[in-house]
Amino acid sequence: MNFPIEAVRGKFPALSLTDKGRRRIYLDNPAGTQVPRAVADAVSNCLLNTNANLGGFFETTVAAQDVVDGAHAAMADFLGAAGPEEIIIGANMTTLTFHLSRTLGRSMKPGDEIIVTRMDHEGNVSPWLQLAEDLGLVVRFLPFDERSWQVEEEALKALLSEKTRLVALNYASNLTGSINRVQALTAIARAAGALVYVDAVQFAPHGSIDVQQLGCDFLACSAYKFFGPHMGIVWGRRAVIDTLKPYKCRCSSNGLPERFELGTPQIELMAGLSAAVDYFADLGAAAGEGGSRRQRIARAFEVSIAYENALAQKLIDGLSDIDGLTIRGITDPKRLSERVPTVSFTVDGIAPETIVRQMNSENIFLWSGHNYAWEIVHQLGIPAEQGVVRIGIAHYNTSAEIDETLESVHRVIAMLRQQRA
Ligand SMILES: Cc1ncc(COP(=O)(O)O)c(C=O)c1O
Repeated sequence: MNFPIEAVRGKFPALSLTDKGRRRIYLDNPAGTQVPRAVADAVSNCLLNTNANLGGFFETTVAAQDVVDGAHAAMADFLGAAGPEEIIIGANMTTLTFHLSRTLGRSMKPGDEIIVTRMDHEGNVSPWLQLAEDLGLVVRFLPFDERSWQVEEEALKALLSEKTRLVALNYASNLTGSINRVQALTAIARAAGALVYVDAVQFAPHGSIDVQQLGCDFLACSAYKFFGPHMGIVWGRRAVIDTLKPYKCRCSSNGLPERFELGTPQIELMAGLSAAVDYFADLGAAAGEGGSRRQRIARAFEVSIAYENALAQKLIDGLSDIDGLTIRGITDPKRLSERVPTVSFTVDGIAPETIVRQMNSENIFLWSGHNYAWEIVHQLGIPAEQGVVRIGIAHYNTSAEIDETLESVHRVIAMLRQQRA
């Protein structure tokens, strides 16, 4: 089936907004996507009709509990969890990862080793580095291969030892866009006795996730990157989280997942989270009859991946024509399935921010900088204060938008070069 781009765009009110008569092109998606009307409606409906705290016996508190339970069940379907008790919901990926790192640290001792990558966003690096600092752990940095743009199995094997307690890995990079072979890397780490914590924040909008197949112990993502509200989610394998004692109030529930969810939850955002998951399921229903919610979600990704890849290839081809422009990631058309459609580049002699500011003034929304992929820019020798230009496609972008963006990149670079000459 062809991707129903017009029907999809019709669901996102923000896509038809203009500023002083000028259309918007949203290519800032790796930093956060727009939301379907159903997501905003669900948040609003929860606040207006069922706004209450949890744990009582009256109408609204019971309805609020249904919202919370619904969000956990939705994310269990989205990630392929064994059940909703494995789904921990909180402020965002970074906050949850700091929280879980402290919890995991309770059973670590000085001299234990942890592995972090040079490909991860700081949200999956800093929590572990600071834990190591507090506890006297040894940190080993796992580089990515600058030809494949991925973390290689052999490089991981070289760092593992009988003292390795945890490996923090990323699924897809928010800068290069490359996807790691998480299943293979996880098998190696687990065979060495280490826990595996996967950051799937950038993968989640672009592909179906199956935590059982990946075999990891934790997997984190953020709803605002996949058309939902600003909040984070961590899946934790039941056999592992059952044994953990998180920092929490003495009198709060020891059940799962409540033990890990501190204070009053973001109930209205959870309503939006369920709506975001259902948005994918509806897209999958349009692509084929029947199936469970999880099966429909998987079908949605089957159609969106092909659509996104075509846009990514067009973008990569168009950028590759520009002299002095270097794409920092996979460009081989045969390897498109090994990347998400986030394309970053640098241009000889021109600061990324200068390009981005000019394109922003044309209402093309995109980012420059290191985007917290702090380790990547350092490994590549890119000045961190400059970083890259990042163009991030979501499945609601169009081929015409990519044409317009490419025309703008060509023109802006030519203009900046002329100014310098
Ligand atoms: C790959 C990756 N990991 C982690 C994060 C942090 O997510 P959050 O904002 O939910 O803390 C981001 C945010 O951009 C990201 O791109």
